[in-house]
Amino acid sequence: MNVLAISGSLRATSSNAALVRAAARLAPSTIVLETYDQLAALPHFSPDLDIPPLPAPVAELRAAVGRCEALMITTPEYAHGMPGSLKNALDWLVSATEPIDKPVLLISASPSGAAHAHAQFSEVLRTMSMRLVDGGAHVFSRAKLDGDGNVVDEALLASIRAGFAQLAAMPNDPRA
Ligand SMILES: Cc1cc2nc3c(=O)[nH]c(=O)nc-3n(C[C@H](O)[C@H](O)[C@H](O)COP(=O)(O)O)c2cc1C
Repeated sequence: MNVLAISGSLRATSSNAALVRAAARLAPSTIVLETYDQLAALPHFSPDLDIPPLPAPVAELRAAVGRCEALMITTPEYAHGMPGSLKNALDWLVSATEPIDKPVLLISASPSGAAHAHAQFSEVLRTMSMRLVDGGAHVFSRAKLDGDGNVVDEALLASIRAGFAQLAAMPNDPRA
């Protein structure tokens, strides 16, 4: 299974980006993880730009989603919502066919949990005909990263492993 991993944080020493790196290390041999790290290159979504020829970063995002069978999103919560850069990327995928029916494993690293952001994701992804696999939001602080920025929180690492198992167990096409 090809999985596209996206961190919703643009912060240089992001704990959610560290989660993506941890996922790459933990992925079983049945999962090929590709990391998408071009959120900041996407233009602000406008329906006026959502016509051929698409802006190159948008075409690249859609191609990356098209190459994968599932997505993994690690994200902080900002003001009880998802980060704007991540919502912007999802807005660019609304009119695309690539995301349809694809499972999305969602895990958050956040000091006070990210239940509000997860609730928002649930609604947005459902509206976009994607399938949410909620790996959970975890209380997490920079203390749970080691000196090299690696995740050392066992609960988070266990969530990643369990999330991969959930992804692997999902049918590719729920209509099949
Ligand atoms: C502007 C801003 C708003 C935030 N709002 C929330 C929030 O509503 N709920 C929450 O749990 N954490 C909130 N946080 C904390 C972030 O979720 C936390 O810093 C997170 O670990 C950052 O992830 P990162 O290390 O991947 O950048 C906020 C942080 C910032 C900078």
